[in-house]
Amino acid sequence: PPLAAVLGWPVAHSRSPRLHGHWLRRYGIEGHYVPLPVMPEHLAEVLRVMPRMGFVGANVTIPHKESVLALADVVTDRAALIGAANTLIFRSDGKIHADNTDGYGFIANIRQNAPDWIPDLGPAAVIGAGGAARAVVASLLESGVPELRIANRTRVRAEQIKAEFGAKVVVYDWAQAGNMLEGAMTVVNATSMGMVGKEALRVPLDALSPDALATDLVYTPLITPFLAEAQARGCEIVDGLGMLLHQAAPGFERWFGQRPEVDEDLRRAVL
Ligand code: ATR
Repeated sequence: PPLAAVLGWPVAHSRSPRLHGHWLRRYGIEGHYVPLPVMPEHLAEVLRVMPRMGFVGANVTIPHKESVLALADVVTDRAALIGAANTLIFRSDGKIHADNTDGYGFIANIRQNAPDWIPDLGPAAVIGAGGAARAVVASLLESGVPELRIANRTRVRAEQIKAEFGAKVVVYDWAQAGNMLEGAMTVVNATSMGMVGKEALRVPLDALSPDALATDLVYTPLITPFLAEAQARGCEIVDGLGMLLHQAAPGFERWFGQRPEVDEDLRRAVL
């Protein structure tokens, strides 16, 4: 039976085995998806051997998402632009194909849970400029947002995104992050703030319009302080769990030949 894995260091925290395990059972597919702890210095060797062991592909997570690009034979344009990959396909010709499905997952989650969302209605505001934010920025620009505002505690990371992603990106100072919400129709927390055990996001939401859609990449808790406050202001909100679920779908389909569904059963299985 086909095998797939998630490679990380550490990897025990990953929810991907539960996610793919649920789909394998649900569709009655004879296959396995396993977590593999792989030290950074062993990644190249592990990737060389996996196809010969029956693996058809893998997800990669921290700390391998960037370094895997140099080890792949084919890198999709969006993975190259984002500077990271999360999904690998071991092709039958022996080549390793690397893609990034995080941006796809981000948009698919919004489309599923806020079907009336129209990206080109107004500017998007992204709080944070880390690895996850880069995928969000790429997918929002691809979806047609007219302007993409971004603020990050470490400003240079936001400047770097502007330099790479172009003229629609407008950098705001971290101290001015509240101001960038004015008139924004899509607002995203792409920092890790609000996660269980970390402090809440402190960006003032006074300028946030009730017509805006608010979404968060953090999904523990499902309703972060940022989402709760946005909802209290009248905004439609979409939690971050769906992004994790949707980013997994293209890999599952490529490896196991079945387009999987993201539904309530899956959410319960993964939480
Ligand atoms: P990920 O891949 O999840 O995006 P990351 O690349 O480490 O992880 O990025 C984490 C994001 O959360 C960054 O935008 C980070 O800001 P910095 O670039 O300034 O580090 C942001 N972040 C984390 N803790 C923060 C805090 N206490 N205050 C403000 N921003 C924070």
